[in-house]
Amino acid sequence: MALYSEKVMDHFRNPRNVGVIENADGVGEVGNAKCGDIMKIYLKIENDIIADVKFETFGCASAIASSSMATELIKGKPVSEALALTNQAVAEALDGLPAHKVHCSVLAEEAIKNALKDYYAKSNME
Ligand code: FES
Repeated sequence: MALYSEKVMDHFRNPRNVGVIENADGVGEVGNAKCGDIMKIYLKIENDIIADVKFETFGCASAIASSSMATELIKGKPVSEALALTNQAVAEALDGLPAHKVHCSVLAEEAIKNALKDYYAKSNME
C-alpha cells in the first residue's frame, strides 16, 4: 500500500508555482513548531483576483505538495475563494494525505490566510 497518493508524489516532484513574487501585494509565512517546517506564500492581486501566487516551502514532501496544490487551487480565483480555502480541500485535491501528515496541509491554508491578511493590512481594509 502506498503511503502517498500519486498526486502527492507528482506535486512533490514537480511543484507548481515555486518562487518569489517581487513587490507582492501580500506575503504570508507560517511555521510548524513541532516539525520546524516553514511555508511562505506570495500573492499578486488585481481587481480582487489572485493574479499570481508563488511559494517557498522548507519542509516535508506533504508540505511541498500541499503548497503546490493550494497555489493551483487559488490561482485566478477571487480573493473570497482563496480566503475560504480549507486544508481539507487541499488534502482532498491531493487524493488524501496520511493522517499524521494532515497538519502539513494546514500550513498551506494558514500561509494563504496570512498572505491575505497582509494584503488587507497593506490596502487598509478590514
Ligand atoms: Fe512538518 Fe509536514 S512534517 S509540515
